[in-house]
Order: sequence, then C-alpha cells, then structure tokens
Amino acid sequence: MSETRADADFARGAAYVDGEVVPVDQARIPLLDTGLTRSDVTYDVVGVWGGAFFRLDDHLDRFLRGCERLRMTVPLDRSEITELLDRLVRASGLREAYVEVMCTRGVPTSGSRDPRTYDNRLYAYAIPYVWILRPEEEAGMDAVVVRSTRRIPPDSVDPTVKNFHWGDLTRGLFEAYDRGGRYPILLDHRGFVTEGPGYNVFAVVDGALVTPAVGVLEGITRRTVLELAAEHGLSTTIDDLEEPTLRQASELFATSTAGGVMAITSVDDSPVGDGRVGHVTANLRDAYWKAHSDQRYVTPVDYASRTQ
Ligand SMILES: Cc1ncc(COP(=O)(O)O)c(C=O)c1O
Repeated sequence: MSETRADADFARGAAYVDGEVVPVDQARIPLLDTGLTRSDVTYDVVGVWGGAFFRLDDHLDRFLRGCERLRMTVPLDRSEITELLDRLVRASGLREAYVEVMCTRGVPTSGSRDPRTYDNRLYAYAIPYVWILRPEEEAGMDAVVVRSTRRIPPDSVDPTVKNFHWGDLTRGLFEAYDRGGRYPILLDHRGFVTEGPGYNVFAVVDGALVTPAVGVLEGITRRTVLELAAEHGLSTTIDDLEEPTLRQASELFATSTAGGVMAITSVDDSPVGDGRVGHVTANLRDAYWKAHSDQRYVTPVDYASRTQ
C-alpha cells in the first residue's frame, strides 16, 4: 500500500494493527484483547522533534525490558520495531510526533485463562506531538498534592514497567480539577512524593536537583535532565523526596516526553519560590530542547524512504 504519501487520511496520524498501517482514526483493536480487559500491556512513547526521534534506543530498551519482565514475546524484533515506527511517522508526514508502541498479552484462546497460551500483540501509532503543558503557558503547572489516593505500591505494580494501571493517577486528576488545579502529584504509602499522570517530578533544593527514587517510572526525560544537569555542574540526587521538601523547594518542575521540562509554579495554591519559572528550570528546559539537535540523542526519520 502507498501510505508513504501524507494524504488527508493520515494527517491525524498513522497506526499499525494486525500487520497493516492504517489512518489512526480507522485503527481498531479486538474487544477481547487483555490489554483492554486486564490492563495486561506495556508500552512506550518516544517523541519526534524536527523530523528526528529523540533517544529512540533508550525508549526501545525500556520497552523491551518491560515486555521481558511481563513475560511477553514481542512479535517483531528490535530492528523491525525501529523500521515500523519510522514507517508510521513517514506515513503521517509529521515532523513533530508522539509515537507509541505497545505490546498486549493478546486475546484468550478459546476460553483459556492461562496467559502463557496467548499470542502477544504489538500495536503502534504516530500522532501529532502531545503537550502536558504547552510552551506558551508561561504561568506553569498548578500542582495539587493528592489526598484521596496514594500511588499504587511498587510491589503490587512495578512502576518501572510503563503500564496502563492509571486508576490512582486518574483519580488524582479528578481531585486536582475539583480543587482548582490541573496537575496532581501523588504520594506513596509512606507519604513520600512519587509522580503525576505522565510526568516525573524534580525539586530544586539549595541549588541541587532531587527526584524521587522509588514508586516512579524511570522517565527518559528524567534521565536526560539528570545528564544535562551533571554537564552543567549541578548536583543531582535520586532519593526519597518528602512532602515538606516539595513545599519548601525554591523551584519545582515536571518532566515528560509529552512536553519536556515543565515548570511547576504553585502547589496547592501556594507559589513555588516567587511563583514564576525559576532560572534552574528555565536553563534545563533550554538545554533539553537544544539536546534535540545533539547527534548523541537523535535518529532522523527516513522520510524519503520508499521501503514498505
Ligand atoms: C507515570 C509516568 N511517569 C513518568 C513519565 C515520564 O516518562 P518519560 O520521560 O519517559 O516520558 C510517564 C510518561 O508517560 C509516565 O506515564
């Protein structure tokens, strides 16, 4: 098929289902897929910026490690997945994209409840880039420390395997909206800070960065920030982050593939620092976007390729 042309059908994105590349609006998964009925799935999201994937290998490493931990057999190998993601971006014609790949346990075989017997399924799609906080929103994120729920414990669901167990995060979102904010931050059962729906959290304390060690996804943006901070001579710690520290920090920010480095300017209606984007956050945000043209990190999309 000639989905390499970025025609109108593909303008909202391209998806891969059952060996076919289709416009994202037409993509369908089977109703009985346990990715849907049991959240038995892992996934990853890699960004495309200026026509190039950002840290593609690191995202694929995390994805394939997650599949292995869930004892899934991915139907495509690593180079086939790489080619597929490239093909989806090419089909969409997007220069800035949000590219997701997921592996589900699959569909139960004739009434069997034994997950070892299912054929695991791979899906993927490329859609326009998604922002948790749009860059023009200089006011930053208004965070709410969630009271109604705690982050699911790591010994129940491994947060380092990117997953769809978003019940706690979604509940946190509703609480944040109810309380007049938009960006929940969840604590764990010990009362320590974890993360929010789709983002890691950093605090700037005495000029140094602190980000939670456990109960969180090991975000690729988090890793990028830790590397860039070290290059800029900032000290960094991955450790427990207590709620009072969050409230006393001079700056706070969130990190995600969907938006990069995003300033958190208030917590529960109280300003962080002077309530504006701090200079550590602003410098790291600049460094993060500059890194998108750093050869260490980028894999250009092969838009000219005609290979199917
Ligand atoms: C729960 C959670 N934490 C953190 C992140 C940020 O991870 P990354 O920087 O790899 O996008 C995500 C990304 O979707 C996430 O779902």
